[in-house]
Amino acid sequence: MTREGHATVINRADYSAPAFWIDTVDLSFDLDPVKTRVLNRMTLRRNPDVAAQSLKLDGEELNLARVLVNGQGTSFKLEGNKLVLENLPEGTEPFQLEIFTTCAPVKNTSLSGLYVSQDSFFTQCEAEGFRRITYFLDRPDVMAMYTVTLRADKTKYPVLLSNGNLVDSGTLDDGRHFAKWVDPHKKPSYLFALVAGQLVAREQRITSRAGQDHLLQVFVRPGDLDKTEHAMNSLMASVAWDEARFGLPLDLERFMIVATSDFNMGAMENKGLNIFNTKYVLANQATATDVDYANIESVVGHEYFHNWTGNRITCRDWFQLSLKEGLTVFRDQEFSQDMCDGVSARAVKRIEDVRVLRTVQFPEDAGPMSHPVRPDSYIEINNFYTVTIYEKGAEVVRMMQTLVGRDGFAKGMKLYFERFDGQAVTCDDFAQSMADANPESSLSQLLPQFKLWYSQAGTPHLGASGYFDAAAQTYTLQFKQTCAPAAGLADKQPFVIPVLLGLVGSGSGAALPLTVQGSVDAAAANHLFVMTGDTAAITFTGVQEAPVPSILRGFSAPVVLDFDYSDAQLLTLLASDPDPFNRWEAGQRLALRNAITSIATYVDSTRASALNNAYVQAMRSVLRHPTLDAAFKELVLTLPSETYIAEQLDVVDPQRIHAVREAMRLQLAVELQADWQWAFETHQDNGAYRPDATSAGRRALVGMALANLCLAATQTGDAVWPGKALQRFKVATNMTDRISALQALVTSGHALAAPALAKFHALFKNEELVLDKWFALQAGAPDRNGLVLPAVRQLMAHPDFNIRNPNRARSLIFSYCSGNPGGFHRPDAAGYVYWSERVLELDSINPQVAARLARALDRWKRLVEPYRSAACEALKRVAAKTDLSNDVREVVDRALAD
Ligand code: TRP
Ligand code: ZN
Repeated sequence: MTREGHATVINRADYSAPAFWIDTVDLSFDLDPVKTRVLNRMTLRRNPDVAAQSLKLDGEELNLARVLVNGQGTSFKLEGNKLVLENLPEGTEPFQLEIFTTCAPVKNTSLSGLYVSQDSFFTQCEAEGFRRITYFLDRPDVMAMYTVTLRADKTKYPVLLSNGNLVDSGTLDDGRHFAKWVDPHKKPSYLFALVAGQLVAREQRITSRAGQDHLLQVFVRPGDLDKTEHAMNSLMASVAWDEARFGLPLDLERFMIVATSDFNMGAMENKGLNIFNTKYVLANQATATDVDYANIESVVGHEYFHNWTGNRITCRDWFQLSLKEGLTVFRDQEFSQDMCDGVSARAVKRIEDVRVLRTVQFPEDAGPMSHPVRPDSYIEINNFYTVTIYEKGAEVVRMMQTLVGRDGFAKGMKLYFERFDGQAVTCDDFAQSMADANPESSLSQLLPQFKLWYSQAGTPHLGASGYFDAAAQTYTLQFKQTCAPAAGLADKQPFVIPVLLGLVGSGSGAALPLTVQGSVDAAAANHLFVMTGDTAAITFTGVQEAPVPSILRGFSAPVVLDFDYSDAQLLTLLASDPDPFNRWEAGQRLALRNAITSIATYVDSTRASALNNAYVQAMRSVLRHPTLDAAFKELVLTLPSETYIAEQLDVVDPQRIHAVREAMRLQLAVELQADWQWAFETHQDNGAYRPDATSAGRRALVGMALANLCLAATQTGDAVWPGKALQRFKVATNMTDRISALQALVTSGHALAAPALAKFHALFKNEELVLDKWFALQAGAPDRNGLVLPAVRQLMAHPDFNIRNPNRARSLIFSYCSGNPGGFHRPDAAGYVYWSERVLELDSINPQVAARLARALDRWKRLVEPYRSAACEALKRVAAKTDLSNDVREVVDRALAD
């Protein structure tokens, strides 16, 4: 699987147990940026369940110096990226294997394996990075006990960390020192980590419910200690939550988080030594927004929760990735909700999660990279750390909780750990535990069918229609499910779809009590209808008023609901649905309907018709509502994104969508001007900064109001609000207020934006994470006269730009290519040319990051001309390169396949 060799397809069906087990690993590192020496002493034995065969160890970019078996030299072969040993002792007795290699961390720009970032050493081993450190059976079902000795220059690398407990340390000759770490838990190689460098730690001692003492540490560069309080608080809250909700305690004396600026993803759950992107650790009120604070809490939680779901029980093979990721995302979502200060804040979190699922995962599942939650094949596993594995996987776990109840789910988790602690298992093993712990549940009765969620790709559509019989006082809902072909699967079996339902009186707006025909259960406010067939129906009795059905409350299943709501019905739900998710959803449906009509009747951008009066009035009522929370209002008043609107159309004209959505924004800004002003003035928060959900919601609404007031000013020419925005930008005491004021100037295209951006750069020139925001703001700005691309190209030459740093590359390149459809999809194809140049440039530096960027053109086939042909050409330009990485090759080949 090198660039010279050709890509191999890995199939789930080909899984076989390893021919050898590795019981212990003793690693010694002599750390040097140019040439690091790695001595690896392992104890292996043959797997008695597998017919005798040679040992094939994985290794990449290694220089092999020595191989000893039981202390003796031995014959070996190098076959591609494998070290093959054929003359090993027979029988199942353990034997020693010693391998000595060197590698060059400073040359490692892929950030996989051992690399150098700002003069410190870090590792990233998931999924297959350990093989870039030493030869190994680099697969998650090989679990071993690790002892690690690190040696390095003491002044340059005063801190030496690895997994587990520090058992020894001291000085060596020549200004060097050493540290020896022993991990008390066996683990797969992808959870190995080491860190060495000049770091300082915030420390916290805690005592668990069970009375155990633990040391928590957050390691950062010396100047960043004042930005670690929130991460530490989040970690303490995570430890307490997992113990309280699932009875899962911290199983280590010491738990460390280390932050690095150079990181491919968000963070990594290495046992006892989590390594984080600085973006998900560092925060203070001057540099981080409310969204950053919330993300830190959820990512810290996510990695911590992996300690049980992922580390104690891991994946048998990488096809089972969602076993740990879907479950752990579900857990972090639940954690964030439980950390909220009220029902409304919980609902807001749920809406945000669903918004990600629908704007990113649904398109993925309808595009060339569509794959089941448990994929059947892959070329490059790094390409399958996707929203399908993570977010849809979490929805599958959530549906299980819906079917067995919260207590039943906790029982299922308990059984899962009783059965599989310390093992590498499959998605089936998890689902079976959930079912077996809840034998009376519908999950248990429907398990084989329920598991279709793991094997069938694509987003099901749930069609529904209702019939009210006024004389009989009955209301019948009929359902029909369909699922378009996806990932090569045309004939699909029906899914198990948990549909949480309610009825709202169309005249009264009252929540109608639900009595299911033929059921003896007391009337309830909600009903959980479990759909299993292609079609189904349910009838409610005693319905005294024509109802509006509130279907799929809380988004109880990851499906598209097709119900032919009238505008009046949606307005009723928007005004009165007691389910906050569907209340928000009604507003989104109304906005979408307006958008789709405008797109269909579009003439040109200056004459784009936009929102009907009923919608504008409804938005006014929400904005002025006496009891709704600010955060919820902000979500309702946010129009569906251009990507989400595009998802509803068969043929996509990105410029039309952009123009229509801009017209809608402008109309809301102008027609609700007085209301925005009221919202701005009444939601000010003058107290000390706190990042809690309620205060954050108020700031979000104020920011939105300011943006609208500046936008309205573009029509009136009035300078008052842009002036206020500039003033607010200057005097803001937290980053949320500061950047929302700046954003208001940038998105309204006001002349004050340029000096404000310059000032922002001057203020934060030493803050990497804030500079990322500065780049992102400009690359994501609404495109007027095609000026964003030239600005992006110019920013590539800015002294602060560095394409090798993934955060910086994302902030400029991805913000433009993936986050700015109006700027990117240019009739002259220049956006696509830029994209292809950057994919190729990044591929020679960091294939994982390049492959993510490559996905920006996933949905090219639905584009209208001239975009479609131009996008195809750009894809072909990338595909024509002969020495592409497997990562990019897989993405572009799938995009171009028919
Ligand atoms: N397991 C990590 C998580 O979900 C994801 C991750 C971090 C990762 N770094 C990676 C995956 C590098 C692939 C490659 O938290
Ligand atoms: Zn994860």
